[in-house]
Amino acid sequence: MVIVSPSLLSCDFLNIEKELRAFDSIKDIWFHLDIMDGHFVPNLTFGHPIIEMISKKTTHKLDAHFMVINPEFYIDTLKDVPLHNFTFHFEADANPERLVKKAKQHFPSVGISIKPRTPVSVLTDDLLKSVDLVLMMSVEPGFGGQAFMELVYDKLDQLNERRKKLGLNFVIQVDGGVSDKNAKKLIEHGVNNLVAGSYVFKEGPAQYQNKINSLR
Ligand code: DX5
Ligand code: ZN
Repeated sequence: MVIVSPSLLSCDFLNIEKELRAFDSIKDIWFHLDIMDGHFVPNLTFGHPIIEMISKKTTHKLDAHFMVINPEFYIDTLKDVPLHNFTFHFEADANPERLVKKAKQHFPSVGISIKPRTPVSVLTDDLLKSVDLVLMMSVEPGFGGQAFMELVYDKLDQLNERRKKLGLNFVIQVDGGVSDKNAKKLIEHGVNNLVAGSYVFKEGPAQYQNKINSLR
C-alpha cells in the first residue's frame, strides 16, 4: 500500500482544524508537516505549539519534515509530541548518524532528506541502515506548488538499488510537484510514500478522497 502524505503547507491555515477533520475517514494517510525556519529555506511556517495542537486534533500519523538549520533543537522541543516520523535534511547537520540515533529515542520513525541537487552517494551505507525513511526532494525545498524535477527518477533508481543491495526496507518518500501525472511512474521507481500539497488541496475538501485515490 502506497501511503499518501497530504502536505498541510497547502491547507487553509486559518481553518486547520476543519481541514484535519476533512481527512478523518480517509485511510492510509500521514499528515506531512513542513517546518521551515526562514534560514535553511527562505520561508517560515510553524513550530512546536502548532504541531502540538495538530497532534491533539487528529488520529492520523504525523510526518514532520524539518527544513531547518538546527534539527537537533526540534528533537528536544518536540520529544513529548507524538510525531510518527521525524525527517531532517542531510545538508543541515554535519553528523546525521548521531542525530538519527538521538531522534530514534523519541520517535518511531526517523528519516533523512536530500535536496534535488544533493547526490544519493552522500548517504553512506551506515546512514541508510539507521533510517526508516529517505525523503527525496523533487523540488527545491521552501514552497508548495513548484514544478516537479525529472532528475529525481535517476536518483530514485540509485536509491532503490542501494536499498535492494543492502537488504533494507526503509520507506522511499518523494516530496514536491507530485500529482496524478507522475505518481504511477514514481511508484514504479520504488516510491512507497507520496507527499502532495497543492495537488490534494487545490480543489477543496470535496475532492480530497478522490485526489488521494488517484495518486495511489
Ligand atoms: C516544499 C515542501 C513540500 C510542499 C509540497 O518545500 O517540503 O512538502 O508542501 O508541495 P507541492 O505538492 O505543492 O509541491
Ligand atoms: Zn515537505
